[in-house]
Order: sequence, then structure tokens, then C-alpha cells
Amino acid sequence: MNYHHSFHAGNFADILKHVVLMRILTHLGAKDTPYRVIDTHAGAGRYDLGSEEALRTHEWKDGVARLDQSPLASSVEALLAPWREAVATARERHGTGSYPGSPWLCRHAMRAEDRLIAAELHPTTYKKLATTLGRDSRCKALAIDGWTALRANVPPKERRGLVLIDPPFEEKDEFATMAAEFIAAHRKWPTGIYALWYPVKERRAADGLVNAIEDAGIGRLLRLEIDVDRPEAAGGLGATGLLVVNPPWKLAEEALLLLPALCERLAQGPRPRYRCEPIRPDG
Ligand SMILES: C[S@@+](CC[C@H](N)C(=O)[O-])C[C@H]1O[C@@H](n2cnc3c(N)ncnc32)[C@H](O)[C@@H]1O
Repeated sequence: MNYHHSFHAGNFADILKHVVLMRILTHLGAKDTPYRVIDTHAGAGRYDLGSEEALRTHEWKDGVARLDQSPLASSVEALLAPWREAVATARERHGTGSYPGSPWLCRHAMRAEDRLIAAELHPTTYKKLATTLGRDSRCKALAIDGWTALRANVPPKERRGLVLIDPPFEEKDEFATMAAEFIAAHRKWPTGIYALWYPVKERRAADGLVNAIEDAGIGRLLRLEIDVDRPEAAGGLGATGLLVVNPPWKLAEEALLLLPALCERLAQGPRPRYRCEPIRPDG
């Protein structure tokens, strides 16, 4: 396990993932009944953009820093508001260089009755996660494998909620593992919302994930991708995706406003692209 998210925190891929995460949590919180989030690969929960790791890559400069420059169109800002408010709160509480990761964002969005299970296998990162979540009785940090945590915790007793699957993609077979583990979880909890994050390095790998899920008979998918047109010479990740299963209604409509605006603001070359594709929206 060599991956450390502190090198990448606040980059363009985090922005897509965290903005959509906050939209999903906003929709979940709009109903009175409690929900649960299972964050299978949770990370440290909060990052310091002044850390040695973050300063080594400066990825946040082409991510969260671009969104700090100026507001986007008001219709887009209305959708970004929950994420913007969470980032502002993290900065107020922990300093201006602070950037909230997925478990922090979940905890921030949750109400008294909602619950979070956050799994993180790396021992040092787990300690940071446990500190970030503190003694909040709504949240449980687990130092276990994320796939094991997923198998053990679906369906949650609330029968409403989200599974965020955000592995490091260090292993060659991570796409296949993700498809298999997700399909098994979906069999046990077909009505949950799932958000599967993936890097887009080879288009075939992302297509394979979507095809495997479709072949398993799973419908109601929303495929969201942005490609910031990063110059090849710069190396690193240039495109990212989030596959949302059982998306809240309105999410596709919201993504159609958000993605073009994010894509333009986060562009690193002249031809940024986005994809917002509902797949078998009727299941
Ligand atoms: C992409 S990062 C998570 C970022 C986080 N979800 C966020 O958005 O703020 C992936 C995390 O998974 C952890 N990890 C690696 N293998 C794991 C495993 N088998 N089970 C759980 N966590 C794992 C890594 O240590 C890393 O912190």
C-alpha cells in the first residue's frame, strides 16, 4: 500500500467526486428518515494543502484553488453550495490550508440520526481518520479492508444511504475487483445508492467496468466523467469518472449543469470534455 491521498487531495478528481458526493448527501438529507454512508476507502478524512506531500505535487492548484478564484454562474453555484459551505467550514475550523476528504464531508452533512462507517486499511492514515472523526457516536472508523467492510455492512439497517467506493487503483485488477465487489454488494442491497470512483487512463478499463455492471442486469446508472485535457508531457491523471448507481432523481439534471462548468474551470488544455450519461435510467 503505497498510495497516499495527501499527494492528490483537492485535485480536479477530488472536486468531481466531492461535489457529487455533497449533492447525493443533500438529496438523502431531504427526507426525514435516517441514512447511512459506507465509505469503503476513506483516507485520512482531512488534508493539509501546505503539507510536504501536497506541496510536492501541487495538484490542488489545478483543483480547489481554481474554484477559489471566482464564483461560477449562479445556477452552478446553487448546486455547489453544500460543497463550498463544507470547505469553508473546514477552513474556519482547521486553517485556510485545510481540505476536507470524503468522511469529513459525510460527517458534516449528516444529521443526528444519520450514520457513517469509514474503512481505511493503511495504519497511519487510519489513525488520522480516527482522529478526524473523533468521538462522534454517529461515525465509526474501521481499520479493515474496504471490500470486507462493504460485504459486512450491506444492507445497512436504515435501508437508505450511499456506498462510496474510492480505492487507490494501485493493483492491475482493481477495475475487476471493483466490479465484482460492487455486484455482490448490489445483490444484497439493490436499492442503495453507490458511487464508484475511477481514473480514466485507458478508456477500455472504464468501459469494461460499466459493461460488467450492465451485464449483471444492473440498471439505473449515471456515468459522469471529466477530462481536463492535461498535456501528455505533464504526466499524471487527466481524466476521472464517477459511476453512480441508483442516482437520486435530479442528479443527472444537476450534473448537466455542473460538469460543463467544472470542466471549463478545471481545464489544463484547450479541449476539456465531460460526459454525463444516464444508462438504463428506468432500471
Ligand atoms: C483515493 S484514497 C481515498 C480518498 C477519500 N475517499 C476521499 O475522497 O477523501 C484511497 C484510500 O484507500 C486506502 N486503502 C488502500 N487499500 C485499502 C483497502 N484494501 N481497504 C481500505 N482502504 C484501503 C488508502 O490508504 C487510501 O487512503
